[in-house]
Amino acid sequence: MSIADIVHQKYFVDGPRPGRAYPADHNEDAPLSAHQAIRPFWFIPTHGDGRWLGSAEGARPTDFSYLAQVAQAADRLGFHGVLLPTGRTCEDSWVVASALATVTQRLKLLVAVRPGVTSPLFAARQAATLDRISGGRLLINVVVGGDPAEAAADGVLLAHDQRYALADEYLHIFRRLMAGETVDFTGRYLSASRAAVLFPPVQPGGPPLYIGGSSDAAADVTAEHIDTYLTWGEPPPAVALKIADVRRRAEARGRQVRFGGRFHVIVRETEAEAWAEADRLISRLDDRAIASAQAALSRTDSVGQARMQALHGGDRNRLVVYPNLWAGIGLVRGGAGTALVGSADQVAERIREYRAVGLETFILSGYPHVEEAYRVAELLLPRLDIAPAETPAAPRLQPGRAGEAGAHYAGRQTDYAAGPS
Ligand SMILES: Cc1cc2nc3c(=O)[nH]c(=O)nc-3n(C[C@H](O)[C@H](O)[C@H](O)COP(=O)(O)O)c2cc1C
Repeated sequence: MSIADIVHQKYFVDGPRPGRAYPADHNEDAPLSAHQAIRPFWFIPTHGDGRWLGSAEGARPTDFSYLAQVAQAADRLGFHGVLLPTGRTCEDSWVVASALATVTQRLKLLVAVRPGVTSPLFAARQAATLDRISGGRLLINVVVGGDPAEAAADGVLLAHDQRYALADEYLHIFRRLMAGETVDFTGRYLSASRAAVLFPPVQPGGPPLYIGGSSDAAADVTAEHIDTYLTWGEPPPAVALKIADVRRRAEARGRQVRFGGRFHVIVRETEAEAWAEADRLISRLDDRAIASAQAALSRTDSVGQARMQALHGGDRNRLVVYPNLWAGIGLVRGGAGTALVGSADQVAERIREYRAVGLETFILSGYPHVEEAYRVAELLLPRLDIAPAETPAAPRLQPGRAGEAGAHYAGRQTDYAAGPS
């Protein structure tokens, strides 16, 4: 039975009560923990933005001044961070994040590393530099990727689980580099000889690691290496099962993982207005566009993508997959395909339901991203318990590692030839 079938049966058929479809060990009557506050994030639309899905009318280009407007809005509106997506249809997330770091003050930048596309040391050096430029505001999203053709274009000619096996080696090296170790490593996919990062990141141990895979392989890599596990917006009972699974695997390794979700949001003063806006957003999509997008998305080997598509099966009439959870965006958009739709009170209530099953970070977005950042901040955020923003760590200035002489000093410690040419 698919997730959509389980949720449909348990919620819509067995009884109309949120929480009804949870796993057996979920106690919906238990008081929320003292740590029920959420961390709100926003999204930088580096692949484009606009007012309609599937229409070029009013489409906004991704020039930097526009992306900076989105980031600066999020920065002053109280979002804790922003996610920058990665992929062949996006502007490069590292370059955009580096530029955004200079025009924002508090915002954390969640930037993707794709294991195997660059070496672990190259990524670690980039991460340390951007962490320093941004004053300790970098977060890393590990994206193994779900499109074998895209991976092949990047030179990663591996099947799904092998890509995760490579990611395991990659993160093993990366984390040790971030902790300041000099690494010698020979693995099945990767090797490194006397690898070290000379200029350390601001955050001790390096930027926290996030991941968003839904496969077993992703859960294992999470359990071994990751700080925060992300899921696209599946119905709360399905999210609860994923969290329980990842938590079990992490605990078996003596580790703890935090959780986050990625949702579009259509929030308005009334429920009727919100649903009207959802309808409007997809009003220019014809059936051919939907069929062709679904066929293209089905060619990936991403478990997460398959789970998103299974929610609606490409059917315009099956878009409400849980109360206030609408799968219309996934008719044509890959990745995050669901939106929380409703009045501000309803969406806040649904977010609290997700918080109760364990999500803490909420990466939200809406079309268009500047206007909707304001709307979400004005209507929704005041109704939520927002965690205090984590202030960046103070820079770690190490004696002997500053100035021109610093590189020479650091190079001597690691036997590197000193200095740039
Ligand atoms: C919140 C979130 C953000 C993601 N961002 C990206 C991204 O920017 N680029 C990308 O190619 N995949 C992205 N993914 C996809 C996953 O990282 C993963 O590579 C893909 O789903 C395949 O793994 P799986 O089969 O384990 O689901 C994201 C997933 C989630 C949940």
